[in-house]
Amino acid sequence: FNVPTPINEPVKGYAPNSPERTELLKTLKELKQQERDIPMHIGGQEVRTGTTHRIFPPHDHQHTLGFFHEGDASHVHQAIDAALAARPAWAELPWEQRAAIFLKAAELLAGPYRARLNAATMLGQSKNAFQAEIDAACELIDFFRFNVHFMQELYHQQPQSQPGMWNRLEHRPLEGFVFALTPFNFTSIAGNLPTAVAMMGNVVVWKPAYTQIYSAQVLMELFKEAGLPDGVINLIYVDGPVAGEVIFQHRDFAGIHFTGSTGVFQNIWQTIGQNIKRYKSYPRIVGETGGKDFILAHPSAHAKAVATAITRGAFEYQGQKCSAASRIYLPSNLADEILGYVKQDLATFKMGDVEDFSNFVNAVISETSFDKLAKYIDGAKADNNAEIVAGGGYDKSKGYFIEPTVIVTKDPKYTTMCDELFGPVVTVYIYDEAQFEQTLEVVDSTSPYALTGAIFSQDRYAVELASKKLVQAAGNFYINDKPTGAVVGQQPFGGARASGTNDKAGSLLNLLRWVSPRAIKETF
Ligand code: NAD
Ligand code: ALA
Repeated sequence: FNVPTPINEPVKGYAPNSPERTELLKTLKELKQQERDIPMHIGGQEVRTGTTHRIFPPHDHQHTLGFFHEGDASHVHQAIDAALAARPAWAELPWEQRAAIFLKAAELLAGPYRARLNAATMLGQSKNAFQAEIDAACELIDFFRFNVHFMQELYHQQPQSQPGMWNRLEHRPLEGFVFALTPFNFTSIAGNLPTAVAMMGNVVVWKPAYTQIYSAQVLMELFKEAGLPDGVINLIYVDGPVAGEVIFQHRDFAGIHFTGSTGVFQNIWQTIGQNIKRYKSYPRIVGETGGKDFILAHPSAHAKAVATAITRGAFEYQGQKCSAASRIYLPSNLADEILGYVKQDLATFKMGDVEDFSNFVNAVISETSFDKLAKYIDGAKADNNAEIVAGGGYDKSKGYFIEPTVIVTKDPKYTTMCDELFGPVVTVYIYDEAQFEQTLEVVDSTSPYALTGAIFSQDRYAVELASKKLVQAAGNFYINDKPTGAVVGQQPFGGARASGTNDKAGSLLNLLRWVSPRAIKETF
C-alpha cells in the first residue's frame, strides 16, 4: 500500500451552461423544494429528539430548508459512550485501512457528492458557487488526500536501531475521545476537524455551529458512504455550554480540535484547566481562533494590485473568513489612487442571493451578526474619527445583507481597526509615506491577533524589513498577495498569539497532535 502523491483538486469554473453549473442549479432547486428532517448521528443511529429548530438561508430568512433535532446533556453522554465503544476496533485497525476510507471520501466528494455539498453550503451558509467550490469541494478533498499522505509519512518515521537491538515507535491514538467543535464559516473545516483526528485512530464527538448543520449532515452521509465505522465520529446538535459541561468533566476526555472565536476558546481552555485532575491524560488542546488581518502597502507598492487585494481579501464570502483583510495601511503617496481603484471595483459588485451566480456578495450568517455589523457602521457614521468612503448600507428585510463598506480613519487604533468584526467592513489608515518603519510597529502592536497579513512592495529592502519586524504578527504572511486563500499542501494554515495554537491545519504538525507515541526497545 502506497498513498498516491496528492495533487490539489482542480477548481471547477461554473461557466454559464457548463455541466457543473447545470448540475449545481438542479441540486439547488431540489434542495430548496424539500424540508429536510435532520437527526443527530450517534453510534451509527439517527437520533431524533422532537425538539426541533428551523434552518433557513441567511439570504432568504423566510424560506425553510429543514428542521434539526436538538439534543441535551443525555445525548452528549450517549455520543461519548458510542465513541468509546467504537474505539478499540478503530484504534487497532491497520492505518492503511483507515487511510483507504478517507481516500474514498475524497473520491466521492470529487464526484457524486460535489454538487450536494456545494449546494448545501451555498444555501445553509450563504456562500456563492465559486466560494463554495473552493471551500466545500476542493479544500476538503485536499484535506483528505494530503492528510492521508502526511499520515503515511508519520507512520514511516522510525528511530535508529543498533546491532542486537530493535527500536521502534508505535504512533498510538490518544486514550479516550476527542471533541471537535467547528465554526459556521468553512465546510472544509467542519469536515477536517473530526476526520484529521479520526484518521489517527481516535474517536470523536463532533458539534458543529448551528448555522452549519445543513452542510454538516451531508458530510456525515459522505463519511458513512466512504465506509467509516459506526461510532467513530458522532455528530450532535447540542448547545455549546451544555455539551462542554459534560465533555470537560469526563475522565476520558483526551483532546479538543477547535476552530472558532478567541473568547470561546479561551473559556474552554480555562474550563479544561479547572478540570485537569479529572482526566486520565493531559488533553491535547488545538484551536484556531480569531483574526484581525492586515494589508500593509509600502510607498513603492503597485496600486492596482493593492486595491484588488483589498476588495478580494476583505469582501469574498462577505468578509467572514478568519483570514479576511480587515485593517489596511496605505502610504500617503498612493492612498487616493488605491482607494479610487477600490471604489471602481466595488461599483461592479452585485449583492443578492446565491442562485444568481453574478452576485459577488451574499448575506452575512445571522441576524446577530447583521445587527453587530450595522452597529459598527452606524458608529463610524457618527464618529469624527471615521469616514465611510464606500458602502455603508444594510437591509435585513429579506436576508441579512450588508453592503461592502470601506471606512477611512485618522486613528490607527480606531475601534474597527482593532475589533474582529467578521463581516464585509474594512478599515483604512493612511500613514505618512516617510513613516514606513514606524508604521510596522503600529501594525505589530494594534491587535492581539496574529493570523494572516500581507505586505505589498516593489522594494526588496522594505519586504525584508517588514518580514523581520512582523515576524510574530501573522502565522500566514503574504508578500504581494492578498492574505486569504491558503491552499492545503502549499501554505499550511494557522495563526499565533490570540489567533490560535498554530498547529497548521492540513499538515504533519496537526496530525502529530493526535497521537501519543510509544517507544519500544527490544534486545536480542
Ligand atoms: P464561535 O466561537 O461562535 O463557535 C465555534 C464553535 O464553538 C461552534 O460549534 C459553537 O457552537 C461552539 N461554541 C460557542 N460557544 C460555546 C461554549 N460556550 N462552549 C462550547 N462551545 C461553544 O465561532 P463562529 O462564529 O462559528 O466562527 C467564527 C469565528 O471563528 C471567528 O472568530 C473566526 O475568526 C474564527 N475562525 C478561525 C479560523 C482559523 O483558522 N483561525 C478559521 C475559521 C473561523
Ligand atoms: N484557508 C482559508 C484562507 O486562507 C481560511 O482564507
